Amino acid sequence: MRISTWGRVLIASALAATAGAATANELNLYTSRHYATDEALYDDFTKATGIRIARIEASADKLIERIRAEDVNSKADLLITVDAGRLWRAQQLNLFQPVRSAALESAIPAQWRDPAGHWFGLSVRARVLVYAKDRVGPLDLKRYEDLADARWRGRLLSRSSTDIYVQSLIGSLIAHNGETATEAWARGVVANFARPPRGGDTDQIRAVAAGEGDLALVNTYYLANLARSKKPEDQAIAAKLAVVFPNQGDRGTHVNISGAGVARHAPNRANAVKFLEYLVSPSAQAYFADGNNEYPVLAEAKLSETLAGWGTFKADRLEAAIIGAHNEAALRLADRVGWK
Ligand SMILES: [Fe+2]
Repeated sequence: MRISTWGRVLIASALAATAGAATANELNLYTSRHYATDEALYDDFTKATGIRIARIEASADKLIERIRAEDVNSKADLLITVDAGRLWRAQQLNLFQPVRSAALESAIPAQWRDPAGHWFGLSVRARVLVYAKDRVGPLDLKRYEDLADARWRGRLLSRSSTDIYVQSLIGSLIAHNGETATEAWARGVVANFARPPRGGDTDQIRAVAAGEGDLALVNTYYLANLARSKKPEDQAIAAKLAVVFPNQGDRGTHVNISGAGVARHAPNRANAVKFLEYLVSPSAQAYFADGNNEYPVLAEAKLSETLAGWGTFKADRLEAAIIGAHNEAALRLADRVGWK
């Protein structure tokens, strides 16, 4: 990956800063991103800036709990999560500090960052439907709302509602359709499950290909990553399936963000902001797009070939902050309808 232009700017500003007080050349990331391809992003940042990155990887809940427990002694500079719900939760717990940055504000559409700068979306993921081409036609599926329809009885696959991706989708439906309608919908969805929810998104995709169900709710990059896998058996799975971007005729497909916020007691605040700005640079954004097949937040960044092949789609404009604010209600609702 090339970072040339941005790298030169950073090095220039680092040299200009050497006259001032010395700061530690390090950055502590607490991250729940779980994608091997991110390594190159970290390496490139270190090469360009000399800032060493130390990473603590765990689930977002564990990291949030840890930052809370460490309190003023926390070494965390930046908390990175894979969805808005957890960012919102960390903000409620007062774990972030506000950041103003022209680079971040111009690169990231307002929908995908906290208005006060407590957290910023870095990549976008669409929660779509994948279906077995030999058993479902593209016109059979148009909206998330259709998933409650009795004709999908015993045919639908989803992961558990303990998963934040599921909670955020339900939260978006509550925001759009209200709690009563969403509860009725969720009951219908649960009645249509081909099996009790288990596994991650890739497991749902594999199960559709294996005929355990006919369609599944998943994030786009999981299918794209199989399609681009070097293993022929993964490619064969992807080849059996097709993607529907739901709700194109109305509000658009539900999207969530992977994002980050600067920790309230960050020992290396300036480095954390620098890293955030690096992540929205055109080269890093292109890498998110290509490395893990996510959608960049930066409008001009290029899509991976696989995503580009699926065409453009209309994304739901619901603010990530609103999705986060509906998280608790979504959890309770999932419990009531028995979405395991
Ligand atoms: Fe994921």
